[in-house]
Amino acid sequence: MQIIDDPSVIQRRCKSLRRQGKTIGFVPTMGAFHEGHISLMRRARADNDVVVVSIFVNPIQFGRGEDFDSYPRDLPDDLAQTERVGVDLVFAPSAEAIYPKGFQTHVDVTGLTEGLCGVSRPGHFRGVTTVVAKLFNLVRPHRAYFGQKDYQQSVVVRRLVADLNFDLDVVVLPTVRETDGLAMSSRNVRLTSQQRQAASILYRSLCRAEERVNAGERSAKAIIEEVRAMIEAEPLARIEYVALCHPDTLQPLDRIDGPALLALAVRVGETRLIDNVLITLP
Ligand code: PAF
Repeated sequence: MQIIDDPSVIQRRCKSLRRQGKTIGFVPTMGAFHEGHISLMRRARADNDVVVVSIFVNPIQFGRGEDFDSYPRDLPDDLAQTERVGVDLVFAPSAEAIYPKGFQTHVDVTGLTEGLCGVSRPGHFRGVTTVVAKLFNLVRPHRAYFGQKDYQQSVVVRRLVADLNFDLDVVVLPTVRETDGLAMSSRNVRLTSQQRQAASILYRSLCRAEERVNAGERSAKAIIEEVRAMIEAEPLARIEYVALCHPDTLQPLDRIDGPALLALAVRVGETRLIDNVLITLP
């Protein structure tokens, strides 16, 4: 496994691999790996000749007052894990290498980025799409892998790829969960044991909503109210949003007449957690 920190070196290396006819699978990450990341790498390993993983805590996708400084980082452990999965190239640049002095170009997907997490994190998706566009240009992957936990991010990246004609497939893989259903996230390590227990309310409330739909409930209002009531009964949890929307447009739904996304963001203590389920009618 080769570790590269220089953008021009990873670009040359990937260009040469493409010229040799190799397919490249790319997993962009911010490090602090958990099983969710590993599942993306394993799938990339199975689908492609070469696997490239980037590890970069992207400063421009964090707003003022957000957790950029305290975001979990553990490069030595991450490298040990990528090695075990059989990753070929790790790209771990510095912020200065990605955003050198004079950098002033951003990529902005509008519309899709305005609701859900976009409300409380203005500028977040602009930071994501800017770095993802740069990484795609450096690695020029055939396939790029993202997790369903960051559902809005995956829809925004698909839009970016379509709108700017990036020649690659976006592959979105299911959320990997702890045994009590909590979606794996690098931020989970920050939860105290009490908060960690409380955090299981997110997935429990999503499952309850699915049960209601399976039992025939079609009103978005009724489902959202039930999810909110369950979470509000947990003293350590504070809801940021609970939303039922169309899975492609992310527009709010009044009724569930077809596929729907139930998504939520909740603070447990200081830690912001997100989760979602895709609802299909029985
Ligand atoms: O999902 C993430 O870890 C980040 O948003 C990404 C896609 C690596 C961009 O920094």
